[in-house]
Amino acid sequence: MSARFSVAILTGSKGRGSNLTSLIHHAQRGEIPADVNLVISPKNGTQAVETARSLNVPVVILPYKSETYAEDLMETLVEHKITLICLAGYMTLLPTLVLDAFPNRVLNIHPALLPKFGGKGMYGSHVHEAVIAAGETESGCTVHFVTEHYDEGAPVLQYPCPVWPDDTPASLAQRVIELEMKAYPAAIKKLHEDRAP
Ligand code: GRF
Repeated sequence: MSARFSVAILTGSKGRGSNLTSLIHHAQRGEIPADVNLVISPKNGTQAVETARSLNVPVVILPYKSETYAEDLMETLVEHKITLICLAGYMTLLPTLVLDAFPNRVLNIHPALLPKFGGKGMYGSHVHEAVIAAGETESGCTVHFVTEHYDEGAPVLQYPCPVWPDDTPASLAQRVIELEMKAYPAAIKKLHEDRAP
């Protein structure tokens, strides 16, 4: 049995925290082979940060725009002995320094079935608006490996859901986020099973 992942969740300045909450709960209940040992946020006071603290997960605040962002991020990850990075609402490209140090060990979750509806500018309600405008009858979420480009890494898993004719971006977003909260833990389990013993 190989070691559990030591996970860092990287959030964004909106930091709502649905995926973060789900991952921490799954880890704390022993339902995934992982411990969430760190949350990194560019901003204090977000819902994600408050939730992480209330669940006793250490939080480090690192503003994206800091001149030493890449080095500080790397140092923090090493200090906390992180072996898997999970992006959740992270709103910028991850520095190459970090990507190179964590090959196949950085995941992201996207609220659509990639490669459709991905790339720069495709985040939040923009995604669901585009899905509805395109007349899609199916959407969902994708957990994928992170590369130096937005939303381009190989998928680890995808969960589909229907798009109903009367859906609004908000109703679709709600269906997809509920799916995301199941998909991310499942992807971590899959990654753990797939890796060499
Ligand atoms: C999710 O919809 C995810 O797909 C995207 O950012 C959002 C984060 O939401 N990458 P939350 O902070 O997990 O609620």
